[in-house]
Amino acid sequence: MQKEKIRRIIVALSGASGAIYGIRLLEALQRIKIETHLIISRWAEVTIKMETGYLVEEVQKLATYSYSPDNLTAPCASGSFLTEGMVIVPCSMKTLAAIACGYVDNLVSRAADITMKEGRKLILVPREAPFNAIHLENMLKLCRLGVVIIPPVPAFYIKPSTIDDLINHTVGKVLDGLGIDNELYERWK
Ligand SMILES: Cc1cc2nc3c(=O)[nH]c(=O)nc-3n(C[C@H](O)[C@H](O)[C@H](O)COP(=O)(O)O)c2cc1C
Repeated sequence: MQKEKIRRIIVALSGASGAIYGIRLLEALQRIKIETHLIISRWAEVTIKMETGYLVEEVQKLATYSYSPDNLTAPCASGSFLTEGMVIVPCSMKTLAAIACGYVDNLVSRAADITMKEGRKLILVPREAPFNAIHLENMLKLCRLGVVIIPPVPAFYIKPSTIDDLINHTVGKVLDGLGIDNELYERWK
């Protein structure tokens, strides 16, 4: 008998500024009942505390499953664990570099490495300003390998009036990238 396909996505928050983007994505995926496997890096724990009103435990509860970045025995550390893909939001320049070099030293880079090798969708939301040549080269290298790079850059034709509008625009673009219909931002008509 054929099993029903579970919609399952890996979400990682790394230690770049913009933890709220990851939190908003988890909230959206929870609303539409997509199974999420969450990894919060050590430095993302710090940005969650510094930048948002959320406790790390509250963010973990938004996900279906949550893992320590040190847990290389987690299901998403293996390609045999089927997922639709992975989003790293926000993505630090350190995690970007690790993925671009195949340097796998924690569950975030391991799961990303697996996602790429299995030919699944990998979306990065890189946050830094300005970018140096190393950052840009790493993004170009990954883009050429099929990784989708969605920087948190707002479009002003949506006429944002709150910070929430800006956050929802980026998260809506990530959902678009995953092929998930959403109304988080107003589309160009
Ligand atoms: C408050 C705060 C904000 C940071 N913002 C950024 C950022 O926007 N982009 C970035 O690449 N690194 C940023 N960092 C530095 C990263 O946290 C650091 O490079 C860390 O090693 C990333 O590790 P991770 O990718 O495993 O989370 C920030 C650090 C702190 C404490």
